[in-house]
Formats: sequence, structure tokens, C-alpha cells
Amino acid sequence: MVIQHIAVIGAGTMGNGIAHVFAQHGFTVNLVDTAPMQLQKALQTIAHNLGRQVTKGTLSEAQKNQALANIVPFTNLAEGVQNVDLVVEAATENAGLKLQIFKQLDEAAPAHTILATNTSSISITKIAAATNRPGKVIGMHFMNPVPVMQLVEVINGYATEKAVTETIVALSKQVGKVPCVANDYPGFIANRILMPMLNEAIYSVYEGVAGVEAVDTIMKLGMAHPMGPLQLADFIGLDVCLSILRVLHEGFGNPKYAPCPLLVNMVAAGKLGVKSGEGFYVYTPGSKELVVSGQFG
Ligand code: CAA
Repeated sequence: MVIQHIAVIGAGTMGNGIAHVFAQHGFTVNLVDTAPMQLQKALQTIAHNLGRQVTKGTLSEAQKNQALANIVPFTNLAEGVQNVDLVVEAATENAGLKLQIFKQLDEAAPAHTILATNTSSISITKIAAATNRPGKVIGMHFMNPVPVMQLVEVINGYATEKAVTETIVALSKQVGKVPCVANDYPGFIANRILMPMLNEAIYSVYEGVAGVEAVDTIMKLGMAHPMGPLQLADFIGLDVCLSILRVLHEGFGNPKYAPCPLLVNMVAAGKLGVKSGEGFYVYTPGSKELVVSGQFG
């Protein structure tokens, strides 16, 4: 299957990163979000991030301008998915919302169009079942920050056609990523391994084994992780971490995935990490740069 024209649904952090990568590699991208302000903000973020690549010398000013010209904003989903070969949905991580979006995508997109989801943990098989083309539904899970991280986790639903998997694997390589294929079980691979590690780091603080900075420094300097697990949890969003742990806990029915009570409390208190300005660390508004350690330091 030849992919030329792509729609990305959702212009948040992941959506704008995915649109950036496709546009930079010459694809025409319809970026769809019902909120015009979000679309405007996403285009500014993409211009800023492409600018970083220009400063670094990996992209010319002309290539940056071409990439920006490749992105067409839409506020109407049905209009945005007409004539596309692939849709990558990157809306909020909410099962009900995703099922509703896939039902709409199935009705509006051409019959040959592959419908991919960037979900980090919701079942691909369940999402596919909301459509009349389950063979053409697949997981295409990018990592944050999308322009920087090399991995694409490609997830086969129960009914995903082999040709669809092959197309997504080839496309991932075409945009400079390394695809790894997994099957559709809770958390797939990335989050099945990552989230228990983050949860264990939170338990270490909860049980008073060590403070936030000690836990993070041990993992950064001892295991060569670019960010400590608590800073990474703040970066991903504590609400997102909690919801993925709940998917693992419920999906496997195994208490080893039970979210740490401290994580549950912090989310209930609105301490969501970078996006709310405070999690395990406190952040400057609008920045991911941590300023001081929060109350558990
Ligand atoms: N767009 C383009 N470039 C970006 C960027 C963005 N959004 N963010 C950072 N960069 C570039 C910077 O320009 C910089 O480039 P050079 O080194 O070439 O100058 C490089 O990335 C490093 O950035 P910084 O110097 O600002 O900061 P850093 O060295 O601390 O790296 C980081 C930042 C890349 C985020 C690094 O800390 C890191 O790799 N952290 C771990 C990220 C991670 O684990 N992500 C996966 C999260 S899990 C997930 O996404 C999936 C899920 O389902 C939950």
C-alpha cells in the first residue's frame, strides 16, 4: 500500500510531534483538532521545534518552510480525512473518546485508508471493533518527544492484516524511525515494562526508602537513563501513568501492577507533573525545565 497523504487527529503534544515528523519527510499532513486555538498552538510548536533542527544544522531554512507548508489544519474531522491513505489518531487517552472517533473515521475516510492509533495502552482490538474495517486498524505508538525519539511501537490488533503491518513498518523506517512489532496485550511492550518501573520508583519514595532526587540520580547515573523515573513520570503526566497502570492491573488481574497510593493521591490532588506545574518536582509555567524538587525531595 502506498501512503502519500496522511491525517493526524489531535494537535496536542503527541499529535503535533507526529505531524512534524511526517511533514518533515515530505508527506502532506492534514492536522485535525476541533479546537482552533490548539491547532494554532500546535503549528507554533512545530515551527519552534523545526527551528531547533535548523539551529543544529540538520535541516535548512527552506526544508523547515516546506515542512510547515506540508501541514494543513482542519477543525472538521470528516473534511480532514477525505482523500487520505492513513489516519494516525492521537487524541486524549480516553477509551470512550477513541471508540467514538474511530466510528467517525470509519464512516468518513476512504475504504482503502489505514486507521492507526497512537494509544499508549488502550486495546487495538477493541478500537478496531468499533469500525467495519478491523483488518485496517493498527497501533502506531510514537514516543515523546516524537521528533527526537527513534522508536515506533507497531501493535497488531487481533484482526490486523499482514499487509497493513508491513505498510506501517515501512513507513516508520521512511520517516527515520525504528519500528518494533508487538501484539495486542495490556500495555503492549513499552508501557508493560516502563510503568511498573515508574510505579516502583514512586513506591520507593512512598515507603521512605529515598527522596525524589536520590531515586532519580541513582537511575540516571547508575543506569544511564536520560531522565530519572520520577522526572519521566512528571514528563509523561502522572494522570497518564495512573491510567496505564490501571489498564495493566485490570487487564492482567495481577496485583503486581496496582498503582502506588501516592500516585493515586497526587492525581486526585491535581498534581499531574509538567502539565499542571507540579508533580514530583515544581516547574516554571509553560516549561518542562524543573526548578525545585517538590514536597518529597
Ligand atoms: N522537538 C525537536 N527536538 C527536540 C525536542 C522536540 N520536541 N525536544 C528536545 N529536542 C532536541 C533538542 O533540540 C536537543 O537536540 P541536540 O542535542 O541535537 O541539540 C535534544 O533533543 C536534547 O534536548 P535538550 O538538550 O533540550 O534536553 P535533554 O538533553 O535533557 O533531552 C530528552 C531531553 C530528549 C527529553 C531526554 O531527556 C530524554 O530522552 N528523556 C527520556 C524521554 C523518554 O523516555 N520518552 C518516552 C516517554 S514514554 C512515551 O512517550 C510513551 C508512553 O506511552 C507513555
